Amino acid sequence: MGPGVNKPKLFSTHVLYEEPRRCLAEHFDVEYWTGSERPPRAVVLQRVAGKDALICLLTEKVDRELLDAAGPNLRIVANVAVGYDNIDVPACTERKIAASNTPGVLDETTADFTWTLLLAVARRLVEGDHLARTGWWLQWNFDLLCGTDVWGKTLGILGLGRIGRAVARRASGFGMRVIYNSTTRAPAEVERELRAEFMSQDEVLQQADFLSLHVPLNAKTRGLIGREALAKMKKTAFLINTTRGPVVQESELVHALEEGVIAGAALDVFEREPLIPDGLRRNNVVLAPHLGSASIETRTKMALIAAGNAIAFFQGKRPPTILNPEVWPRS
Ligand code: DGY
Repeated sequence: MGPGVNKPKLFSTHVLYEEPRRCLAEHFDVEYWTGSERPPRAVVLQRVAGKDALICLLTEKVDRELLDAAGPNLRIVANVAVGYDNIDVPACTERKIAASNTPGVLDETTADFTWTLLLAVARRLVEGDHLARTGWWLQWNFDLLCGTDVWGKTLGILGLGRIGRAVARRASGFGMRVIYNSTTRAPAEVERELRAEFMSQDEVLQQADFLSLHVPLNAKTRGLIGREALAKMKKTAFLINTTRGPVVQESELVHALEEGVIAGAALDVFEREPLIPDGLRRNNVVLAPHLGSASIETRTKMALIAAGNAIAFFQGKRPPTILNPEVWPRS
């Protein structure tokens, strides 16, 4: 963009990191939300008005109201997340607004965190940390905080997309059997590489010692894990959720934990974040505040992808990770 040329206007609902900020500054007249908390809805609606591009996080609901507030100049909404259930993509498409996400760069990081949770809940790490930290650990004892073995157990995966596969790949180091169900069965070479056996969803629920959820949130998966599904699981099984909270019916999970239907859970995501029901604050539940992709390296890559999509669009190029390619090329 040469000097004197008016740059398109972009609003970013987060300051991001320096590297993506530098890229954006070359191409846009950028306005950032600099608050340490998420911006109130009214502020987002006000600050997106008249902008040509929006960079947002999964906390921003990009719906018709927001698109109306933005006005006719808005051309692209670049989400800094792989999940995009916060964006009404059809509404963007109707208005010929491109929408994009950040696939590919957070799979390994999210898989690492899934294992962090799995190991923590199985081996009672959080309870142990609490005991050690508070000074209440008075002596070693034979049966102190004995948990459950991970190695050699059965890992059940629902949703064998990129993240599900990265989680499955790590299981071989623990000598685990991997079983999975997914809307589409993985190609034979992928199953071979991961040593993953395809089964019906019910069989996965029934056989898993650790059930890890990796389905995207959509109309079919909302509430997927409810009373019926939980009742099919082993009493000794643990549920791990690093995808989206509404995939699990939280009140049913609380009930299952109270009644000993399953042994425990490790959760990074919740139905109404940041609200966590009191019934989940239990010793056999490990809780995390949606940290799956939260490493500096990965968040930098995610922001660079979002910035790259916005930049490409205004250079007349197809945004590399566009969600609604039907709006491209612009008419
Ligand atoms: C995503 O990208 O969808 C994660 O939930 C947040 O990084």
